[in-house]
Amino acid sequence: MLIKSPPSWQMPEREATPEHVLFNRRHFLGALAAGTTTLIGGSAFAARETDPTADLYPAKRNGNFVLDRPLTKESDASSYNNFYEFGSHKRIAMEARRLKIRPWTVSFEGMVEKERQVDIDTLIRAMPLEERLYRMRCVEAWSMAVPWSGFAMSELVKYAKPLSSAKYVVMQTFHDAKMASGQKQVWYPWPYTEGLTMAEATNELAFMVTGIYGKPLPKQFGAPLRLAVPWKYGFKAVKSIVRFKFTDRRPVTFWEKVQSAEYGFWANVNPKVSHPRWSQASERILGSTKRVPTLLYNGYGEQVASLYDGLKGENLFK
Ligand code: MTE
Repeated sequence: MLIKSPPSWQMPEREATPEHVLFNRRHFLGALAAGTTTLIGGSAFAARETDPTADLYPAKRNGNFVLDRPLTKESDASSYNNFYEFGSHKRIAMEARRLKIRPWTVSFEGMVEKERQVDIDTLIRAMPLEERLYRMRCVEAWSMAVPWSGFAMSELVKYAKPLSSAKYVVMQTFHDAKMASGQKQVWYPWPYTEGLTMAEATNELAFMVTGIYGKPLPKQFGAPLRLAVPWKYGFKAVKSIVRFKFTDRRPVTFWEKVQSAEYGFWANVNPKVSHPRWSQASERILGSTKRVPTLLYNGYGEQVASLYDGLKGENLFK
């Protein structure tokens, strides 16, 4: 595949975005949030669209999921995002406002009892919403800790009614280059595609996210529905999902298609397995310059290590 320019997260983060640029951007966005700065025309932060599920937030926190570090500040997590559909840099929040999240239909396809489509609000209201505090470790060696709202992916799998012969669930983001100008970059294999084994998808940690910080999910985080699999590198956490396809074939995922030497299907966090171009031994906590040691499975080994027993021939950590 022709790659015109490598994605910024294929280089160490410190090379991709100098700290002083980060600082200035945060300062700028902070000022915007505080209402002390306006953009040209004053329309950049137009009146918030009302989310039809707003009444469901904040969801009750599930105390089984605890953190070993403070939560990342909302302003930091909201202004440093990977969402290539809206640009191959971290400052996509403004551009992502173009994402039209209603009406939004999610389809269940492939090896299911009956293929069907459901409106996102019907789906969200049918699910038991809760809040979970999760870490997220990006392959670029930065991390955050956030309060996601959503529901266990096992509930979604139950809802989809897959056949027992299904081995994987493939998830895809919307594809609309008119709305998302990043999708005009034809050298990327749109739509963004990710997958999990059925055992991973039904593990207690796999979480479908619909909100964050006690509110419906802002667009830059992948509204109205995204994945959180905290033991894997962040690129597995597919955003703005429109399709769940159940299959017995392992999918070739988005970044695997772009650069299979560096990114694979499993992408489990392991500090001892370096990325071909940088170490994964430590991570920078978003919002600070502090680095902390990275943990195997991002610290979630107790819940997930057994998923990989008997997969010795596989490259589980890229
Ligand atoms: N999903 C889509 N559709 N497009 C993307 O570019 N980027 C991934 C993942 N999901 C991405 C995506 C990567 S590389 C990371 S690290 C996380 O989203 C970032 O999530 P955040 O912006 O909420 O921190």
